[in-house]
Amino acid sequence: MHNQPTLFLFSLLLLLRISALFAQHQVYVVYLGEHSGLKTPEEIENVHRSYLHSVKSSREEAAASIIYSYKNAINGFSAFLTSQQADVLSAMDGVISVFRSQPSRLHTTRSWDFISLLEANWDASMAKGEELLKKAGYGQNVTVGVIDTGIWPESESFSDTDMGPIPSYWKGSCQSGDQFNSSNCNRKIVGARYYLKGYEANYGPVDPKFDFRSPRDVAGHGTHAASIVGGRRVPDAAAIGGIGSGTASGGAPLVRLAVYKVCWAIPGGSMEEANGCFDDDLLAAFDDAIADGVQVLSVSMGRSISLPYEMDGIAIGALYALKRNIVVVCSAGNYGPGLSTVTNVAPWVITVGASSIDRVFSSPVVLGNGVALEGQSITPFDVAGTYPLVYAADVEIPGSTTSENNGLCISGTLSPDLVSGKAVFCRNGATFETLAVAQAGGAAAVLGNPYEGMGVIGRSYMIPSTTILSNEIQTVYNYTGSDKAATVTLTPIETISDTKPTPFMAPFTSRGPNHVEPNILKPDVTAPGLNILAAWSEAASPLNVPADKRVVKYQFLSGTSTSCPHVSAAAALLRAVHPNWSSAAIRSALITTAKLTNNQGESITNEQGNPSNPFESGAGHIQPSLAADPGLVYDASYRDYLLFLCASSGNRLDPSFDCPDDDYDVPSASHFNYPSLAIYDLEDGRMKVARVVTNVGPARSTYTVTISEPPGYTVEISPAVLRFSAVGEKQRFNITVTDGGGAFENVYGFGSFVWSDGIHQVRSPIAVTNSD
Ligand SMILES: *[C@@H]1O[C@H](CO)[C@@H](O)[C@H](O)[C@H]1NC(C)=O
Ligand SMILES: *[C@@H]1O[C@H](CO)[C@@H](O)[C@H](O)[C@H]1NC(C)=O
Ligand SMILES: *[C@@H]1O[C@H](CO)[C@@H](O)[C@H](O)[C@H]1NC(C)=O
Repeated sequence: MHNQPTLFLFSLLLLLRISALFAQHQVYVVYLGEHSGLKTPEEIENVHRSYLHSVKSSREEAAASIIYSYKNAINGFSAFLTSQQADVLSAMDGVISVFRSQPSRLHTTRSWDFISLLEANWDASMAKGEELLKKAGYGQNVTVGVIDTGIWPESESFSDTDMGPIPSYWKGSCQSGDQFNSSNCNRKIVGARYYLKGYEANYGPVDPKFDFRSPRDVAGHGTHAASIVGGRRVPDAAAIGGIGSGTASGGAPLVRLAVYKVCWAIPGGSMEEANGCFDDDLLAAFDDAIADGVQVLSVSMGRSISLPYEMDGIAIGALYALKRNIVVVCSAGNYGPGLSTVTNVAPWVITVGASSIDRVFSSPVVLGNGVALEGQSITPFDVAGTYPLVYAADVEIPGSTTSENNGLCISGTLSPDLVSGKAVFCRNGATFETLAVAQAGGAAAVLGNPYEGMGVIGRSYMIPSTTILSNEIQTVYNYTGSDKAATVTLTPIETISDTKPTPFMAPFTSRGPNHVEPNILKPDVTAPGLNILAAWSEAASPLNVPADKRVVKYQFLSGTSTSCPHVSAAAALLRAVHPNWSSAAIRSALITTAKLTNNQGESITNEQGNPSNPFESGAGHIQPSLAADPGLVYDASYRDYLLFLCASSGNRLDPSFDCPDDDYDVPSASHFNYPSLAIYDLEDGRMKVARVVTNVGPARSTYTVTISEPPGYTVEISPAVLRFSAVGEKQRFNITVTDGGGAFENVYGFGSFVWSDGIHQVRSPIAVTNSD
């Protein structure tokens, strides 16, 4: 009998010791650069194991701790390590960096729309867009890899009817798994793979109740992105309730899609953390996509905080993609409107912000006192009706909220007795708020837009709901406070097309300056990302919550997740019409031809209605058919990027390249031949940087420069005239920026310079500050 307590204690101690051991192990990526020489997969894996063996007690332990061994374009592996083992490895020969594999998040705010991809339909250039599509064969010879949550292959958007044979260069494959086999790939979906070892190392085996262990999409996000890039033209597509009805189409409707599923549902994760896309899974996807032969990669995810390149799976993967001349397009993030929130900021990716299109779904509310307020809704109900109106803070269960968080319609705080059958006003409204109202028996919801300004994110809620602009919240608040018999009338949804002004920047779109390297201007461009209709997974409901059992084929979503694939499609078309262009040339063409004005001929604005600056909209809104004929491009070789890295972080991502010893040969990061100019710090109040343009227009041409100086600075460009006599000819010019004394310290000034031959306008934004 005496033994029992002892035994119990012992096993408890053992358990504690084991869990402590596990707690010390995390998944790390050990990044080794590139494979040198020809090695077989077995040899590569042996090298990786020998690194591990040097920090593990046995060969067996080394073999058991390895998760991925990257064998194609990228050299490295991921493994379970303690922080001490990670430290030892990071000091070893040949190791470039060792970093924790952490999850990126999808860059969506879970709402949605249709896409009128090319040149947005506000400037009668749709015809030109069609011309570009024809020239590009609608993208049929190009393959775009979509790294995301997988795909719903049965969607009509992915039909391969009448598509020609798969291009012969394609080496990808169709990986089988849960409810997905090779029959789900076709001439449209030419590849589908999935990567979950990194996820499972953190969360254990994928739970079939929450996700498919296969390329099949349970979340909808990947299906949405893929259909924006390359969905077929599907007439009469609409969101639930018939809202937004029209022809859905991807930007490159015949492009080939290759799906790489790296994001997995996290059971019990909050909305923001409903999916995780781990670095080591991402790197495995990049490694395969490069070997499979994709020409463009679309990546709608990222971290909320930008990390140094050598610690960022997307940046590392994208660099190797760039080396094979693959264009990598990434979302800027939805962490705006604050400054320095932009993510995916490497100069070898195209970073895309989000802006509005020219359509809203209007559903004004009329208060019982006769005051009418603008409202927007895509909630599929005949919302017409008059309801008693209560403010959430007045109908809460006593003690369930504080003065800080009352009125927000937090789940479980609303009193069913006081809410039943009524319309509830929530100060900041989105999915969970309307669910809380419905749960408490409310009949309808009036939601205050959580963002200031013009952008309203539409969602297909489950009870009649409409969202009012934030500057009208006080009006409703005053009304419910002064009238105990307040009522509200919701009006039916009316689709308004050709709204003005548009585009304006979405309130959530992430902004510059670039946190990792302030001498590179990010975001690069903006594209439609507010209420975009595209295909959806039938395993995902419109709201992605268990309470929502509705099944839809198309749905609205907002976020830079939806603007990124627009640019991926444009890049695919440019790749088709200019097969010999570098990925830098394609990026340059999209940046220098972007549009700065809205459909009223005025500056694109931010959500507050003020002219947007390059930290908000980058160079402006993409215009793919102009980008197909940009006149001049700012090209860059792989070596140029490595020299940039020498100047920027001093940390070489590619050990096969030695940084020059002489500082003189390592120009500052501002010198990198980027199509925009950012200077974080004018040394001695003056800085001279160089740029080189390549003629891709008519052989004989003369370009002159026009400068718009940032307030407080002078900008001189020399020479001010460039004469070309051949296609492919390069010309160099210098830009001298001087603090004219009128600039404020640490305040950015914005301007631009434009090279023009009378036909082409090659425009580069400038952002400059003087930190000292
Ligand atoms: C696509 O490739 C096929 C086969 O190589 C070729 O005949 C066709 O012209 C190409 N189309 C475009 C638009 O490049
Ligand atoms: C794939 O699965 C479907 C449905 O279970 C089945 O009908 C089909 O034969 C399978 N195809 C292959 C190639 O296994
Ligand atoms: C709301 O009421 C406050 C206090 O009476 C008043 O100052 C404010 O102007 C009112 N605002 C609106 C929009 O009615």
